[in-house]
Amino acid sequence: MVLAAGPMVVAARGHLVGRERETEVVAAALAAGRNLLLEGPPGTGKTTMLRALAGGAGVGLVLVEGNAELTPARLVGHHDPSRVLTEDYRPDNFVLGPLCRAMTEGALLYVEELNRVPEETLNVLLGVLSEREIHIPRYGVVPAASSFRLIAAMNPYDAVGTARITPALYDRSCRVALGYQDEEVERAIVARVTAGPDDLVHRAVRAVRLTRTHRDLRIGSSVRGAIDTVLVAAELAAVRAEAEPSEATGLDAARTALSGKVTVQEGCPRSVDEIIEEIWGQAEPGKR
Ligand SMILES: Nc1ncnc2c1ncn2[C@@H]1O[C@H](COP(=O)(O)OP(=O)(O)OP(=O)(O)O)[C@@H](O)[C@H]1O
Ligand SMILES: [Mg+2]
Repeated sequence: MVLAAGPMVVAARGHLVGRERETEVVAAALAAGRNLLLEGPPGTGKTTMLRALAGGAGVGLVLVEGNAELTPARLVGHHDPSRVLTEDYRPDNFVLGPLCRAMTEGALLYVEELNRVPEETLNVLLGVLSEREIHIPRYGVVPAASSFRLIAAMNPYDAVGTARITPALYDRSCRVALGYQDEEVERAIVARVTAGPDDLVHRAVRAVRLTRTHRDLRIGSSVRGAIDTVLVAAELAAVRAEAEPSEATGLDAARTALSGKVTVQEGCPRSVDEIIEEIWGQAEPGKR
């Protein structure tokens, strides 16, 4: 199975707003047999892009959440402990983990938040990148099918463990950085996902963009905050029998959608709800 860049890009166009250059370079790198590091803050379309590219190539996408609990056994697989008790270790009581499944099927293995993965697990991945096979004691050698690739994502604002991503890993991968998309594109994304009314989409996008630069917030919201605001506002308006979400309904929705997605600066005496209220007011059409 070859990964052809052209069909991947064509398929992805149908699923993505913007991101054309990034889609092309990611598809080209995958088609060239390279592994990838995708760096970008949350909600910038990394998973959406990869799902679309995998679909276009006709290969699977195996998703793994990177965290401190992702041990080598969880990634690679393990012998079923109850069967080992009665049968001893046998190849057929080995349960393939996501890495071995992706290698066998020739899928794209997508590891999110790679920087949070324990050291030993990173070393397993490094080995696979170098050898394209993995030797598993009491099971055997698992070779990677030709379309297998590793794509790892990292959030550049995440302070945890980024220093552990060794030069060896960077050296064996290509890197594509995805930043926040511009306002018009974010509006198109929210409109597409929510089918919400224009003025509300407009205001919600403006509000999340303000969270990213507000002096009292250390971390702002991704486009997901705008999506959630619009969807919650629509339901809340229905509950309150409003034809259009009222001012109070919009604010309730924005608070609900955004307050958990932003982080207040250390030492700031204001509450998160107060800050969201201020931002929601500033985002009103016609303001500023
Ligand atoms: N360029 C885009 N085109 C279409 N939808 C997008 C785009 N960017 C983001 N989205 C939408 O925004 C939401 C978040 O996107 P996605 O899950 O792909 O982000 P991510 O970069 O994988 O985030 P995370 O780092 O948190 O996993 C989804 O609902 C997705 O549909
Ligand atoms: Mg994702």
